[in-house]
Amino acid sequence: MTIAATDTMRRLIPSVKLGYSLDQEFYVSDAVFKADMDAIISRKWLVAGHISRIPNKGDYFLFKVGAEQIIVIRENETSVRAFFNVCRHRGSTICSAESGNAPRLVCPYHAWTFGLDGALISARLMPEDFNKAENSLFACHVRVFHGLIFINMSEDTPDDFDATFGDMGPILAYQGIDTARIAYAGSYPTTANWKLVVENFFECYHCVPSHPEFCSMHAPETLVAVGAGPSSGPADAIADFAPKVKAWEDKAAALGRPVGTIDEAPESSHLRLLMQRMNKEGRASETQDGTAPAPLMGKRTAPDGGRMHLSFSPFSQIVADDHFAILFQFTPRGALETDVEMIWLVNGDATEDQVDIEKMTWGYHATTTQDKVITENNQTGIKSSRYQPGRYSDQEGSVMKFQKWYLNQFSAA
Ligand code: FES
Ligand SMILES: [Fe+2]
Repeated sequence: MTIAATDTMRRLIPSVKLGYSLDQEFYVSDAVFKADMDAIISRKWLVAGHISRIPNKGDYFLFKVGAEQIIVIRENETSVRAFFNVCRHRGSTICSAESGNAPRLVCPYHAWTFGLDGALISARLMPEDFNKAENSLFACHVRVFHGLIFINMSEDTPDDFDATFGDMGPILAYQGIDTARIAYAGSYPTTANWKLVVENFFECYHCVPSHPEFCSMHAPETLVAVGAGPSSGPADAIADFAPKVKAWEDKAAALGRPVGTIDEAPESSHLRLLMQRMNKEGRASETQDGTAPAPLMGKRTAPDGGRMHLSFSPFSQIVADDHFAILFQFTPRGALETDVEMIWLVNGDATEDQVDIEKMTWGYHATTTQDKVITENNQTGIKSSRYQPGRYSDQEGSVMKFQKWYLNQFSAA
């Protein structure tokens, strides 16, 4: 971190009161955002997109995070590469379109030309002693895992990917994420700090007042006992709900579903989460009338009646049921700006006729549109001179855990 960012965090962190929302500066300050970028966002594995976006050699898309732009590009049939969108000549961006196909990466400014492996192929009229080999594009760590393209912008060796995420493989395989196709994509850019977007996603205290559609798709007891994570609700509600979950897990496991829970501690690197629960009784899917909007997904031969929330990190999540999966990407762009993207995935061989997009997107499109509004309202209020950190409820356990994880990231500061 820069000295300014480090000094800011050293000043702010000791005054944080656990059990309360954070001080104003955490949600508005450019210095804190810089610290967040350096200590957290640049060092985590982030899902940049689904592999089906770049099926052919040279297909690329831009993934924008903070001030960075990452070119995610297919090098060949087996390799996906990621580069910082920064020319090694005088620093122009190379790709300006959000997506496209490029047989070579040609800078529009003075036409330096790079291969799909990032190597500088040609640079006109350069001095004799210019060394092309020293002027490759800056690479970004990249890993394709079950069809999801993860990037990591760390300048150091990042957390070992397989050690961090390997145990999530079976449930992603069961859901058929690698062979899924994108049925619909929605964008909900939110004028708020990324931590407010995440905190909102990690609690369901707001579900009843804010989300009529979401609540209609879920039993009231799951809203309280489950909310937004295995440890997000009051302990007695979780205990009451446990036998019902166990009964469903036994049935789902018999159908081949890898059941189980991941609920990582604030000391973990990515604060991962895997929560699997049954649908509201009488409902096959998370839709308005409860009927399925698309064919069964993945390895299922019969519906198991479950839904899951899988979190790779606070930035990248999947919500899925028997028939569709939604990839949520929360991508910080600035202190007061967060990209919220949702990608609805269906089984890879589901035809257009078999997928009712309106039905499939009804619940979570409404919910995320509402979340954008309430999160922006939260940000606006936090900017006031009268904002003070407020006390968390018994239904905001996951927010408190996220906050501890967040603060832990600066422990070396
Ligand atoms: S800045 Fe790219 S070729 Fe000059
Ligand atoms: Fe919400």
